[in-house]
Amino acid sequence: MRDFEFKNPTKIIFGKNKIAALAKEVPANARVLILYGGGSIKKNGVYDQVVAALKDHHVEEFGGIEPNPEYETLMKAVRLIREKSINFLLAVGGGSVIDGTKFISAAATHSGDNAWDILEKSIRTEEGKGMPFGAVLTLPATGSEMNSGAVINRSEIKEKRTMGGPGLFPVFSILDPQVIHTLPLRQIQNGITDAFTHVLEQYLTYPAHAYLQDRFAEGILLTLIEVGPRVLKDPTDYEAASNFMWCCTMALNGLIQKGVPTDWATHMIAHELTALYGIDHARTLAIIAPSLYKYKFENKKDKLAQYAERVWGITSGSLEEKAEGAIDQTVSFFHQLEIKTRLSEYTDHYQGTAKIIAKRFEERGWQGLGERRDIKPDDVYQIVEMSY
Ligand code: NZQ
Ligand code: ZN
Repeated sequence: MRDFEFKNPTKIIFGKNKIAALAKEVPANARVLILYGGGSIKKNGVYDQVVAALKDHHVEEFGGIEPNPEYETLMKAVRLIREKSINFLLAVGGGSVIDGTKFISAAATHSGDNAWDILEKSIRTEEGKGMPFGAVLTLPATGSEMNSGAVINRSEIKEKRTMGGPGLFPVFSILDPQVIHTLPLRQIQNGITDAFTHVLEQYLTYPAHAYLQDRFAEGILLTLIEVGPRVLKDPTDYEAASNFMWCCTMALNGLIQKGVPTDWATHMIAHELTALYGIDHARTLAIIAPSLYKYKFENKKDKLAQYAERVWGITSGSLEEKAEGAIDQTVSFFHQLEIKTRLSEYTDHYQGTAKIIAKRFEERGWQGLGERRDIKPDDVYQIVEMSY
């Protein structure tokens, strides 16, 4: 096992009807800005619960944060914060609203002139420097509710960039699994796929003799395989919903990646597909991951075979056969969730995509992705071509 440090300061408040806890979790004298998306929270009662809980607080609102949160929109919120002397942010939504809030938290306390630097130059927000914020999660998927990362879109230049740092963890996050009742099926499919792939990014690398981390990862994968189809069939199945929600959080709150190598190349390549074609984040992962596993088969085959045995129950055949079987099972699982795994199934304009993405990586100087940092722009080209 590798050496590591681990600190996750986010307080999780999990369970039925826990939104009421906002009344005491948000500091009494705070000037609060509630941030939300396109309005789902106004239809499903979440907004009413938030407003009721904060009835004795000073509250302002900012709605309209898009899926794949837009830089320009978020900058409007930063201006509002200055106008209204806001000092506490409350994200109410899915990954996009929470990520957007992290960017706003960083931008509101950023001393430079150009907030885009936070994304372009990967300026990491130091501990304690972001404006404090809490979250009410409405969509289990990204893990953003318990991590300090964010992904921000800028459509005008077709860029989607990652950011984060130790000063950008939510102070608290409220997880009421009942919020999934109103999720469109497509978003539940996305959530299962995103969380599943988060685990694979931190698990399908090479053996690091980290027995517990491997079993944490396998436990999340097995649980998602068990409860995913149940939540799709009946989102009001609380037992399934609560397990699904906690899996998504645990998949990306930093715990399972400690002491082990991590990959993340699937995510970095896949973000480009959202930037170029607006494809849902989770679906871009399902497009790239299988090709990446095939392309980096030699690097990954030991862990693929372990995944085959322990998660998919494939016990016969050579190591290579098991490893191949695991990739096939992963694709079948995505298909079972009705997630398509080929770029050409999402856009007719896929020709040339590999070249565009490889060139972008070259221009950004991204010379080595993956757990061995050996995925160069030429390899990115091959992986994307295999995904058409
Ligand atoms: O905008 P509203 O009206 O709220 O509707 C949203 C949105 O249209 C809707 N929704 C959310 N909760 C709902 C609901 N509809 C009905 N009932 C509810 N309870 O769902 C739609 C999608 O929401 P979004 O927040 O975009 O989805 P998700 O949570 O999947 O977030 C995706 C974003 O997170 C980033 C992705 O790149 C993408 O931009 N990620 C963030 C990560 C992180 N911070 O760690 C890691 C991930 O890998 C990912 O990159
Ligand atoms: Zn993801």
